[in-house]
Amino acid sequence: QLGFHTGEDGYLYCDSYRIDDVRAKVQTSPFYLYSRDRITANYQAYEEALQGLDSIIGYAVKANNNLNILKHLQRLGSGAVLVSGNELHLAKQAGFDPTRTVLNGNGKLPWELRLAVEEGVLVNVDSEFDLENIAAAASAVGKPARVLIRINPDVDPQVHSYVSTGLANSKFGIRNSHLDWFLKEIKRQPELLKLEGVHSHLGSTIKEVKIFRDAADIMVEFIKTIRDQGFDIRYLNIGGGLGIDYYHRGEVIPLPKDLINAVRGAVESLGLTIIIEPGRSMVANSGALVCEVTGTKTNGNKDFIVVDGSMSALIRPSLYDAYQHIELTAPCAREVCSYDVVGPVCESADFLGKQRDLPTPAAGDGLVVHDAGAYCMAMASTYNLQMRSTGALPASPSTPALFNQAPLQRRATLCALERARHSSAQ
Ligand code: LLP
Repeated sequence: QLGFHTGEDGYLYCDSYRIDDVRAKVQTSPFYLYSRDRITANYQAYEEALQGLDSIIGYAVKANNNLNILKHLQRLGSGAVLVSGNELHLAKQAGFDPTRTVLNGNGKLPWELRLAVEEGVLVNVDSEFDLENIAAAASAVGKPARVLIRINPDVDPQVHSYVSTGLANSKFGIRNSHLDWFLKEIKRQPELLKLEGVHSHLGSTIKEVKIFRDAADIMVEFIKTIRDQGFDIRYLNIGGGLGIDYYHRGEVIPLPKDLINAVRGAVESLGLTIIIEPGRSMVANSGALVCEVTGTKTNGNKDFIVVDGSMSALIRPSLYDAYQHIELTAPCAREVCSYDVVGPVCESADFLGKQRDLPTPAAGDGLVVHDAGAYCMAMASTYNLQMRSTGALPASPSTPALFNQAPLQRRATLCALERARHSSAQ
């Protein structure tokens, strides 16, 4: 079976690996475990949905920058969507074709822009000063920058305000009423700026494809205006944003094919190449944070499972009040209670789940937080000097090592520190 599932023996599996066996092999805890097959299936769902359209699937690296995951997606044919020069360095290391890569951001720095222009990356124009910096970078590098203009279609994605980005009051994108100014500036400097398309990104965790259709229709009108001014633009970048089933209650979430079908008419009407920028829907359900239970306790009113994972490893519940499903890794016949699952960090915001009906675990038992493949490892911190969790990706024929730790230097160093800490504690 694909991805995370309960086996016939009642244990939790990731692909064909029993998670308790993986726990025995991985020396650090907590750690992130990813299903390669699930990532492949998620990628293929986009690929199939896009059949018949000229397209670039740009995986949003911000969701998870584990180098093994990047290399895997690159091998499958993915492009990359980036928000920093460091991400561009990493994407190059993973082998992504820079010309199928987009650099986003409202505060791109001159060195990041120079690197992007040098590499032939598509750069999103976000503001007046950004356009000036892009032109300066192109002049320094001695070749024109390939640009997209980021426009806010002002369609409400109906998501948490922190992850809503395409409304008129957003910090991202140009002031739409100022579009003419941007077009004039670009036209004035053809040797520095080559306008290739437009971009919009509405927000994240979207569960309604009508939202994408409405935005694409608005973007088509902008493209017509821009083409009328003599620009031969090719790309409509509709951003990322598709949600996933975090609750595991069988909620109907649109699939990539539903999303693409909603915008297909708009793309075809103008003979465009579509760029999409999925992050969450590509990797979230491929990953879990695997923790170890430290103990259970009660304060009289409330019962707690205390684990070694925390808001430092996985901040989404604390930051957005986000729900991520929690399970024990092994069958457990003990009494089921309503528990808050918390970590060891020094504040009450440190919870992974609240009021979860779970069997009472013993110290040392495994517990997973599901759907942790996106925006979990990537947003982890070392608060309270918690060590940053590593990532394990079970083997495939192309990577014979059984458990490949993410080979980033930073993480390798932290991992070595973690091991030293463990051995000195024994
Ligand atoms: N493109 C742009 C321009 C973006 O800003 C984002 C995400 C994406 C694509 C990918 O969106 P996705 O397909 O993953 O929804 N930390 C938050 C999510 C922040 C999303 C930021 N931008 C969370 O944990 O829910």
